Amino acid sequence: MIPVSAENEWWRDAIFYQIYPRSFQDSNGDGLGDLKGIIERIGYLKSLGINALWLSPFYPSPDVDAGYDVADYCDVDPKFGTLEDFENLVSAAHAVGIKVTIDIVPNHCSNQHPWFVEAVNSGRGSEARELFHFVDGRGENGDLPPSNWQSVFGGPSWTRVSEPDGTAGQWYYHLFAAEQPDFNWRNPKVLAEFKRIMKFWLDRGVDGFRIDVSDALIKDTSWTDTEGRWPIIPKDDASGVHEIYRQLRAVMDEYPGDRMAVVETGADDDIVALFIRPDEMHLAFNFKFVKAQWSADSFAHAITSSLQANRAVGAPVTWVTDNHDTVRSATRYATNLELAGAYVPNFMGLEDVPSIDIDNRNRALALLLFSLPGATYIYNGQELGLPNVNDLPDEVIQDPLFARTQGEFRGRDGCRIPMPWQRGVEQFGFSSSLKTWLPIPERYEDFVAEAQDHDPASLLNFYRAAIQLRTSHETLRKGNVTNIQINNQVLDIEIQGIERLRVLVNFGPHECAAVPDGLVLLASRAVSGQTLPPDTAVVLRLL
Ligand code: BGC
Repeated sequence: MIPVSAENEWWRDAIFYQIYPRSFQDSNGDGLGDLKGIIERIGYLKSLGINALWLSPFYPSPDVDAGYDVADYCDVDPKFGTLEDFENLVSAAHAVGIKVTIDIVPNHCSNQHPWFVEAVNSGRGSEARELFHFVDGRGENGDLPPSNWQSVFGGPSWTRVSEPDGTAGQWYYHLFAAEQPDFNWRNPKVLAEFKRIMKFWLDRGVDGFRIDVSDALIKDTSWTDTEGRWPIIPKDDASGVHEIYRQLRAVMDEYPGDRMAVVETGADDDIVALFIRPDEMHLAFNFKFVKAQWSADSFAHAITSSLQANRAVGAPVTWVTDNHDTVRSATRYATNLELAGAYVPNFMGLEDVPSIDIDNRNRALALLLFSLPGATYIYNGQELGLPNVNDLPDEVIQDPLFARTQGEFRGRDGCRIPMPWQRGVEQFGFSSSLKTWLPIPERYEDFVAEAQDHDPASLLNFYRAAIQLRTSHETLRKGNVTNIQINNQVLDIEIQGIERLRVLVNFGPHECAAVPDGLVLLASRAVSGQTLPPDTAVVLRLL
């Protein structure tokens, strides 16, 4: 193991930019973004000032769940390019000082993965079946599923297979769609395989991983019926899940260059913190922050609770508001939409027309996001203020959530629409194709990157300014949050490091006399004297 000093832990305060490859840039005119397209946009990424990329899956996949159903973990799907394109992307990013991290999906694979195909064909009791959760059904002929557990995407989490002799057979467990069978992580072969997969990509120079559904690897295989909707998935030490991460960490530590991993878990903060103990993974998304309502109380709680839990294990907090699973923040805070669960509410009837001046909120949120010490993730298009697209016609919807809930949930496609780059050209410069994998609405014309690039007052340029502020003030990246208070609706955060800074955000509808004496370093809109207008943030240095 190569010892790494604290100075080398670049991920502790990095800004990561999530690229949803199929929606970023299409280079070959097939209507789907690809790896070469990302290379074409490296200049844009560099100009933002971000430090690292997170690429959502680009592996061979039948795309039942937009690539989160992986058929081969060690290749690039031809629709996204080749392994050589991937290597070129890593080189191009590294050449401008941007690190590259990739999604790893260890909880489940595609039902087209050779291991699963073999398991179905090999029959009851075979070694191949031991790699998944194949269980006999209940009832007289095993006609009933082994438990009442529901899938996250709706419907039962068990699907029955036909045995090689054609008779109705065992059931297999899937937390998500039926085409996404869950691996049995109690089988050491699964761990060995994922070590191999991580090494494959680490050898190709990736700087880290985002680990999908990290907390669900070990199931309660007593398969006891549950009262609630969610399956029983233990997350404590006794479950064995943390031993898996210790082993994966050891693999990463064999490599030079301080490789990292961020975990996705929507558990309570103290449980999340277990996954980022010093010998496990490095970062964990703060999903309370994603779900915060537009109020000083809600944000204060999301900040304090995560800071407290993470301090206990010496890990930084990972601030995030947007990703490919959630309604875009520009729509959430325009409509005061409440995010109930991990996977988006029903959009039926939700108007796209903002009821609130979202531009002010977008700016205030960006300044808060980049002023909090720790790591930060942003999601492609967030810097343009893209709204969610909630009126996609039924026939273009791809998210399995839609079909599996018989249309009750429209799903997550609305936050996955391709990027609008330029006015006056086909598909706003995303693709030369007449048809893109999800249609880009006309109203995205108001958000194109090129126009924002030329407008000093645009949100894009405000993102650049806020990132620049963070880059030039170490205290915003590495300082300590020493006090958080709320005055009226103003959230007031004190951060101490080599400077003493204050970050104030007025979440209320009225202006407030809240700004202390100090030097204003950046404000999300004009602030004069002590008065902070509504939906405004300011960062100042105390004199
Ligand atoms: C990913 C989703 C995906 C699910 C199943 C999630 O956490 O972010 O996009 O549908 O895992 O793989």
